[in-house]
Amino acid sequence: MIKHLRSAADLDAPTATLILDTAAEMAALSGREVKKLPALRGRTVVNLFYEDSTRTRISFEAAAKRLSADVINFSAKGSSVSKGESLKDTALTLQAMGADAVVIRHSASGAPHRLANWVDGSVVNAGDGTHEHPTQALLDAYTMRSRLGRLDGLKVAIVGDVLHSRVARSNVLLLTTLGAQVTLVGPPTLIPLDVAAALAEKTQVSYDLDAVLPDSDVVMMLRVQTERMQDSYFPSAREYSRRYGLDVARMKKLPEHAIVMHPGPMNRGMEIAPEVADSPRSTIVEQVANGVSVRMAVLYLLLGGK
Ligand code: CP
Repeated sequence: MIKHLRSAADLDAPTATLILDTAAEMAALSGREVKKLPALRGRTVVNLFYEDSTRTRISFEAAAKRLSADVINFSAKGSSVSKGESLKDTALTLQAMGADAVVIRHSASGAPHRLANWVDGSVVNAGDGTHEHPTQALLDAYTMRSRLGRLDGLKVAIVGDVLHSRVARSNVLLLTTLGAQVTLVGPPTLIPLDVAAALAEKTQVSYDLDAVLPDSDVVMMLRVQTERMQDSYFPSAREYSRRYGLDVARMKKLPEHAIVMHPGPMNRGMEIAPEVADSPRSTIVEQVANGVSVRMAVLYLLLGGK
């Protein structure tokens, strides 16, 4: 088993499949009255969050607690980071406290890779800048496999703000490792040529959402990340929505069995209409629930739980 999960590229197909299979066993726990396992008793998991999060932070905390680990939640706000303390010195402090695993979210792409040089424990990337979010990709793959029964040969359209999306990058890496066919869809400004070229070996690119939908098993809508945009990437929110938003009329172009995904948080009414987000085809709430099982599996396997 790997020691760190910094990138979806750390996972070959057998390792990724082992995580998904272990997550399925962990999911069986959630139906029980007592949801705890003693697997990580005496181990310490630190959640080190330099960027805001709802789903990822809560689910890593729930996952570690369900495995009986001791959990330390650290958020940059209110810590000595605001006095200028560096990531390295923060890491050495956590090391001194005996962290067996550090789950990190950071605005700097590559921060988990640096952190892994400074701590003895396992490092798990919970989202670094616009780079990667591997556990999101794992929970997305888990959700597709549970809804549609397979990943091999599945046609997945990832739609929208690919440029700023760590979710898209990790999904491309993981899904193609597991045999899915990925098409990136969005305006040319949000799938620039260099990004398309870098991913070209693994994916197709289309600028026409209506053409891609009828041949998709999964459509994954990405959040438009206006907070990361310094320039204007599209004429207006309304125009973006008209070309690349998933509304009810567009959803009807999908095959009967196809599912609609979104990693959250959503811009309802922009990349996804509320009626679509709340429809039976939507797996958005299921993705959140599956996130706990998948993160339990990741912590359990990385820490060699018993
Ligand atoms: N999907 C996701 O990473 O959500 P949060 O930012 O709320 O953790």
